[in-house]
Amino acid sequence: MKRIKEHPILGKEEKRKKIKIVVNGKNIYAYKGETIAAALIANGYRDFRYTHRFNLPRGFFCGIGQCTDCSMIVNGVPNIRTCVTRVEEGMIIETQYGYGDKDGKNERS
Ligand code: FES
Repeated sequence: MKRIKEHPILGKEEKRKKIKIVVNGKNIYAYKGETIAAALIANGYRDFRYTHRFNLPRGFFCGIGQCTDCSMIVNGVPNIRTCVTRVEEGMIIETQYGYGDKDGKNERS
């Protein structure tokens, strides 16, 4: 896990509250208050979704909720912008392929 160990505003890493989230079926730890994207990047994830047309990977880009490159399926809901959505205990996050909701399935093209 790559994180800033001590931050002037957030404080020391070990004092932050850890919570568990599930990413593509794997349990990872995040810190309460951080965004999904921050937790994923800290845990080595780079590909958040794959484009519908060419199946190309997309990930963290603008970081302010404008580009949709960080969209993922969160608790079964597709197109959630993970850079502006905070983690919650037990949250289930999946890589999104295409639109993520074709016929109710997250299909890889
Ligand atoms: S990185 Fe652009 S909307 Fe999240």
